[in-house]
Amino acid sequence: MDDFFTMKEFAEAADFIRSRTQYTPTVALILGSGLSPLADAVADADVIPYGEIPHFPIPHVEGHAGRLVVGRLEDRDVLVMQGRAHYYEGYSMQHITLPVRVMRMLGVETLIVTNAAGGLDPRFHPGDLMLITDHINLIGMAGLNPLRGPNDPALGPRFPDMSQAYDPALRALALRVAERLDLPLWEGVYICLAGPTFETPADIRFLRLIGANAVGMSTVPEVIVARHGGMRVLGISGISNVAITEPVEGKVVSHEEVLQAGQVLVPRLISLLRGILREMDSV
Ligand code: HPA
Repeated sequence: MDDFFTMKEFAEAADFIRSRTQYTPTVALILGSGLSPLADAVADADVIPYGEIPHFPIPHVEGHAGRLVVGRLEDRDVLVMQGRAHYYEGYSMQHITLPVRVMRMLGVETLIVTNAAGGLDPRFHPGDLMLITDHINLIGMAGLNPLRGPNDPALGPRFPDMSQAYDPALRALALRVAERLDLPLWEGVYICLAGPTFETPADIRFLRLIGANAVGMSTVPEVIVARHGGMRVLGISGISNVAITEPVEGKVVSHEEVLQAGQVLVPRLISLLRGILREMDSV
């Protein structure tokens, strides 16, 4: 059997973080590709590089700072993951989701996940935001589920429900805040692929056919672990590029394009997130 992480490793990481900050956040944010500057909005922050935290997976791709930023945002304590590690980097599914277990141990009750995603829905443009209503765990269906392995009932049930993975009340709040800010916010289904290759035109046609609106290489494993642990989840995709459905000479998707879109996405996302954080306690 593979090696799996246990309560011992999660507790070692949590204890280390507790030794480095006085804050007691109940809300955590994970920032996707190119969205690291969002963490600059956190005031009076304690910054902890992932490399110093026992067992934490370290991202090695550009656009992922790899630091925990714990501080104040909109009058509350928040824990922000400035970048995340991905499965395609070589980490196991359990390893990339270890930070979510650690958050839970630290008392985090609500997880806000963000990502940069490719737009599959023909209405989407780069720079748009999409509220995640549901996901398709394509790689999980093929066996890559972060909950594979022994189940510790102290962490969550063996067979967790996923019928409302993205909290309906938080989604409704996000829509209300977006409307008030006059900020367009699409709603749709996110599909997770392993990467690191971008999709072929045939992949894209398939993904559209099965009901996905945006595609990326993250988020779903983290959401599964968060739900397993009983956390509320809100997910927002920043559309960084739109899918290529037919081969066109000279037209490609690149990581640079994904990172560049972050510059447009960050100010939009930060105003939406600030509005959500302000009113979160009422839903
Ligand atoms: N495909 C997969 N993942 C992505 C994309 C994409 O087009 N853009 C950003 N992450």
